[in-house]
Formats: sequence, C-alpha cells, structure tokens
Amino acid sequence: MPGLFVSFEGGEGSGKSTQITRLATRLQALGHDPLVTREPGGTPLAESIRGLLLQAAPAPGPMTEVLLMIAARSDLVSTTIRPALAAGRVVLCDRYTDSTLAYQGAGRGLESSMLVQWNRAATQGLTPGLTLLFDVSPELGLARRARAAGTANRLDLEPEAFHDRVRARYLELAEAEPERFVVLDAALSPEQLETAVWAAVALRLAPATGARSVV
Ligand code: TYD
Repeated sequence: MPGLFVSFEGGEGSGKSTQITRLATRLQALGHDPLVTREPGGTPLAESIRGLLLQAAPAPGPMTEVLLMIAARSDLVSTTIRPALAAGRVVLCDRYTDSTLAYQGAGRGLESSMLVQWNRAATQGLTPGLTLLFDVSPELGLARRARAAGTANRLDLEPEAFHDRVRARYLELAEAEPERFVVLDAALSPEQLETAVWAAVALRLAPATGARSVV
C-alpha cells in the first residue's frame, strides 16, 4: 500500500491528541490530505461501539471489552484505513492494536498470544509504518486528566497499578520493535514534542512506504 500509516499510543493524559492535531495541520500545509481517525471509533458503527465501551455503566467484563475493541477495529480498518492508504493518503490513528496489548493484555491480564491473533484477524495484518509512543508516568498523566475536568472515561478510573502495567507493556512493545516505534517523553513541552513528532514522520514520508503487512 502506498500511503503512510502512523499510530499514536500512550497512557492517559499523554498529550497525543494535541500532537495529532498539530501534525495534521502541518501535513495539510504541505499539501497532504491526511485522514485523522481514532480508536475505538472512527466510523459510525465503531463510534456506537465506543459509546458502549466508555460509558460508566453497565461496564463490560474484560472478554466483552476486548471483543468490542476488536469489532470496532475490524470495521475501521476495512472501511476507512485501508481505502485511505490505498489512495496514497497519510493516516493518523489515535490508538491502534498496541492499545489492546497494553490495556487488555497487561491492564486486564488477558493472554497476549490470543490478543495478537485477534488483532491480526481484525486488521488482516495491517501494521503501522510508524508508531509514536507518548511515554508518560501515570502520576503525571492522570493529574493532567484530572485538570481537564469532565474528560475521564471508564478506563481512566482504573487504579494506578493498572496504568503502571499499561505503561510497562508499552515500553516492552517498543523495545521489541524498534524500527516501528519511536518513544517520546510526554513530559516535554508541546512544542518540543511537535518537533520530535515531525522529525520521525518526515523521515518516513519521503519514500512513503509506511504501511507494511505482517503475515
Ligand atoms: P479516550 O478518551 O480516547 O482516551 P485517550 O484520550 O487516552 O486516548 O478513550 C479511549 C480509551 O480506550 C482509553 O482509555 C484506552 C482504551 N482502549 C483500550 O483499552 N483498548 C484498545 O484497544 C483501545 C483502542 C483503547
């Protein structure tokens, strides 16, 4: 596929949403037509699933939660991300498969090999060319979230130990795939982060061979 697929990952309050907006603006100024999307969500069907997932009650159990995430992902990838990449567009996705490995795997304790298989089924092996991991301590991230009143979702309310496990798993995933991941210190200023994000994206934009398939 000719487009570039960039996923944004990180814990709560890592500032990744701000960076997605800034990157999209920069790409547009350069004449690109980026597709900005998010998970869970990004299509009418997946946004409905998002509502079920993030509402306070009734809360799904861990297995129902992951199956809803996977269902939402399958719809987003097939109807939106693949066509955009096929048209040569840059796709910026706020969360993707690594969120499932970190939150449902490390956070909820579901078996990682099962999640890897389900991710593969939902995406048909579509892996980002670049994953930007906004690494933030749960302490700082949750404090930022608390300041942004009214933005806490059901998963934000999990105990700090849950968010510690999520962070640790993200860092393990990044270590295992250094070519795909760029780890950013989310405690940096928005301007510093914007510069680092652009450096990583610009490197991969030139050849524009970002999306690769894993069999
Ligand atoms: P959102 O409010 O978009 O959080 P953030 O701004 O931190 O991205 O809510 C998405 C929530 O869904 C977030 O808490 C992480 C969670 N999530 C999973 O647990 N598993 C997944 O596979 C995905 C995509 C998200």
